[in-house]
Formats: sequence, structure tokens, C-alpha cells
Amino acid sequence: MRHATFRQLKVFETIARHLSFTRAAEELFLTQPTVSMQIKQLTDIVGLPLFEQIGKRIHLTDAGRELYTTCQEIFGSLERFEMKVADHKGLKKGRLRLAVITTAKYFAPRVLGPFCQRYPGIDISLKVTNRERVLERLSENMDDLYILGQPPENLGTNFQPFMENPLVMVARADHPLAKRKNIPLQRIAEEPFIMREPGSGIRQATQQLFEENGISLRVRMEMGSNEAIKQGIAGGLGIAALSVHTLALDWISGEFAILDVEGFPILRHWYIAYPGDKKLSVVAQAFHDYLLNEGRQVAEAPFNDPRIVWPEKILKAIKAPLPTA
Ligand code: PGA
Repeated sequence: MRHATFRQLKVFETIARHLSFTRAAEELFLTQPTVSMQIKQLTDIVGLPLFEQIGKRIHLTDAGRELYTTCQEIFGSLERFEMKVADHKGLKKGRLRLAVITTAKYFAPRVLGPFCQRYPGIDISLKVTNRERVLERLSENMDDLYILGQPPENLGTNFQPFMENPLVMVARADHPLAKRKNIPLQRIAEEPFIMREPGSGIRQATQQLFEENGISLRVRMEMGSNEAIKQGIAGGLGIAALSVHTLALDWISGEFAILDVEGFPILRHWYIAYPGDKKLSVVAQAFHDYLLNEGRQVAEAPFNDPRIVWPEKILKAIKAPLPTA
């Protein structure tokens, strides 16, 4: 049967349904000799007659009946598949697999909110992990889209910035440096510092700035979570560089201060990325477009809330225009 074509099976199924070559030819807009030829070829492939003629009427043979059942299953599955695809195209149903870097968890679920309301049939899987692991997942093509705090190094990745990602130096509100202006980087090196884990994008960006200036930080401890670091700062363990997005909901508590350090905020962006040779699903394309067009406004809601007073310098960094390609 491997050599049978879909066209032959379709012709057979139509004849079997009508038990008439003439009506099958009409339904399929084919001539009767073409229909007969297709059935002859299919009969040769099967190796047994599929129809028998008794008087003027045709009947299915046993092999014909078996093949008719098989055809119904095949065309039924294809039809269900086509419906699913149509649903996907209409964004009624589908799945979006997102992998985001640890710090993006401070805005990614918020951004997903209006998207899910718009397309309630779409299921979301959101994987949150650090930069190293996100890059691994990207190279293994495990998800539809990836959100990172700096562009992936691998060539051949398609990426676009969609929002600012300033890194700020955070201390406890009552820290002696909290009220100082233009604190030199060198002065920060005297403070106990809480550093993110190896593999973190924030760690990489912070280390780079200090190394470029020939300054070593006094790292008191390493922590693998922004939340743990904020607790550490609140507990007086030290100061840390964090994405301003990690403070979005905490700033109003008044527990933290953003230090006015030279070279800070470190201006970075959030990127949406996917492998360059990947064809995005309809759902992934819709989310990609939504993120680029509306994501920033949704994610930045806490920075637009008039009840929350942010330092002028931070607001300016958050509102900066994105670089153009
Ligand atoms: P991280 O990345 O959560 O892995 O530190 C965030 C960033 O690069 O801004």
C-alpha cells in the first residue's frame, strides 16, 4: 500500500460512499475514465478486487470494505488535523512555550495577562531559569520564544529589544550612602556586596563595569535569587546591583534606596529571541508582535503609577527610547 496515492484513496472512498463511479466522478470533477484508471491502479497495488458488479450495481468486496474503513479513519484524522490547524490560525487554540531569564519573572507574567485575556484558548508554559540555561534551551530549540537581559552571543539568533532594563545599585533605605550624590565606583568597592550566582546576566554586566574600571568588589556572598538578595539587603547583609524591575512592587514599601553611583544605572535592554532558522507558530508570532507593540506599556505599569515616586534618573532610564536596528 506504500505506493497508493492520496488521490487514489480519495477516488476509492468517494466511489465506495456513493457505490457509483458516475457520482464519484461528478463529485470529484473528474472524467469517468480517470476515475476508472485510478481504481485500476489501486486494485493492482492492493492485489485484490475492491468492487464487484452484480447486475447493474456495484458492491464492495471484503478487501474493499476493509479499505473503506481504513480510508474513513485516514480522512477523519486528516480532517481533525485541518480543523486544529485552522483553530491555531485563528488563535483560538494553541500553546505558547516561553523560556525567560530569572529576572524577567518580575514582568513576564504581568505581560502575559492581557495576551491570555485576548486569546483565552491559548495555554502558556513559562520556564524561568538563568541566562546560561536559557541560552542552552535556545540552542536546543526547546521553546517558542526566549526573553533575555542581553542579546544571545550565538550568531544566527533572531533578537529584538522591547524594553529598557536598567541595573541599579540597591541598598537598605537607612544606608549611609542612601542620601549621597555621585558616589564613586571605588567607594562601592568598600561595601559588602551581594552577588548573583555564576551564569547570571546581572552578575556578568556588573562584573564587566567594575573590571573595566579596574575595581574589585568586596563580594560578601553569592545568592541565586533576586528575592533572596532583596531580603539580604533588607537584613543589612550588604548592597547589590539589581534590575530595577525587581523593585517594581517593592519600591513603595520604602525599605530600599537606589544609590546614585557613577556609571549607574547600567543601561541595558530586554530582548525577545528565537533561533534564526525557526518558523514561528501562529501563536508564537502573535505573542512576539504583542510583546513588541504593547508589552512595554503593560510591564512598565508600576513605573507609571502616580502613587509610586521613583528617582528622576531611574524614570529617565526606564523611559529611554529603544535602540533602532
Ligand atoms: P539574570 O539575567 O536573571 O540571569 O541575571 C537578567 C539580565 O541579564 O538582566
